[in-house]
Amino acid sequence: MDKIIVEGGRRLSGEVGISGAKNAALPILISALLCDGETHLSNVPHLRDIVSTIQLIEKLGVKVQRAGDEVRIDASGLCCYEAPYDLVRKMRASVLVLGPLVARMQKARVSLPGGCAIGARPINLHLRGLERMGARVDLKHGYVEASAKRLRGAEVYFDLVTVTGTENLMMAAVLADGTTVLRNAAREPEVVALAETLNQMGADIRGAGGSEITIRGVNGLRPARVRIIPDRIETGSFMTAACLTGGDVTLTGCEPAHVTAVAHKLRLSGACIDFKDDRIRVQGAPEIASVDVKTLPYPGFPTDMQAQFMVLMSVARGLSMISETIFENRFIHVSELRRMGADITISGNTALVNGTDHLSGAPVMATDLRASASLVLAGLVAEGITEINRVYHLDRGYEAMEKKFEKLGAAIRRVPV
Ligand code: EPZ
Repeated sequence: MDKIIVEGGRRLSGEVGISGAKNAALPILISALLCDGETHLSNVPHLRDIVSTIQLIEKLGVKVQRAGDEVRIDASGLCCYEAPYDLVRKMRASVLVLGPLVARMQKARVSLPGGCAIGARPINLHLRGLERMGARVDLKHGYVEASAKRLRGAEVYFDLVTVTGTENLMMAAVLADGTTVLRNAAREPEVVALAETLNQMGADIRGAGGSEITIRGVNGLRPARVRIIPDRIETGSFMTAACLTGGDVTLTGCEPAHVTAVAHKLRLSGACIDFKDDRIRVQGAPEIASVDVKTLPYPGFPTDMQAQFMVLMSVARGLSMISETIFENRFIHVSELRRMGADITISGNTALVNGTDHLSGAPVMATDLRASASLVLAGLVAEGITEINRVYHLDRGYEAMEKKFEKLGAAIRRVPV
């Protein structure tokens, strides 16, 4: 288990390249299960979760070749329909195989993912949607067992906006008999990217990006060639780091349209942010203004940016309120930030952040992916040395984060433990 050591106080400057989006790559890798032949992906990031996903689909009989940022997946040999507990517990997004397996193999046996650090994260909406589409769904010995001769088109209403729920049912519906309408669907760019991939495979999906998605079932799909979209959360994380250090950083290979909510809040905090094609220039303000934030489904402010933005508010002038409306336990990073001198009071799903003039470096513990990113950001601006332990959390969703920050001038290094 490595740790990352940061000496705070360096102003970040220069250019940094943004990697492919983890949360687009995961469902798109899994969508390759839906067709025979070789699906070809590019701009796939090097992340632990990508490795886990490849391990999972290989277990199902799929051939995967990886070279650089390219991944080729040949699902002609798909022969197994079980996603075992030891893989699903490592990465809950494994539940995304449910839809494609029932669609392609007429059955699936997937371990229930269980909760995680940020919340219970049930998958009841995924399962109810599959039942609406005619699947038999049983829960046995910690596994979901779903089966259907052929799924049929249905109208599915999501009580809550669910990203992977939308993705799972979209993949289930593409080979169904008839038309499926998903209502109150997730509008995230990663959902749109999946829909575009499936349409390239020959599916008939309309309305992705809106809250109502219509999928007309087809009889078969063919392999696609897809470039993974840029990671909007990595983009927001580096934008926030530039603001934290009063730096001048240009992010390249981004999609500015995917970070408008984050850019809006960073501008309110005083930053100067310019969008040009696939580049974003961020110039931090000498003094950071406090800004209130409420996390919402896309296009609102993303929950995956809440911890990182809280670090910025910890050193802003004045009070800010940060409300977390998506997950019930996503303030785990607060206790570690407090150890670095942050003045944060939690009341229910709202954190009241009283900005201080500085944070102080300390040994801290990462607990989940985005919390670990927030601790790295805090270390960049804290006085003295910060040591972040259990960085395997970070490696799930950020490609060589410490190397990218070092290139921007940070005093940061990874130490094997
Ligand atoms: C996706 O998780 C992302 N993961 C998460 O990113 C992200 O935080 C989340 O969407 C919200 O944007 C991937 O895309 C792989 P949800 P997902 O279903 O789909 C409740 C990261 O850091 N819910 O949109 O699992 C759920 O408990 C990760 O990259 C149900 O109640 O999240 C939550 O409160 C963390 N029943 C809310 O809906 C269900 O059946 C939104 O969850 C499904 C969800």
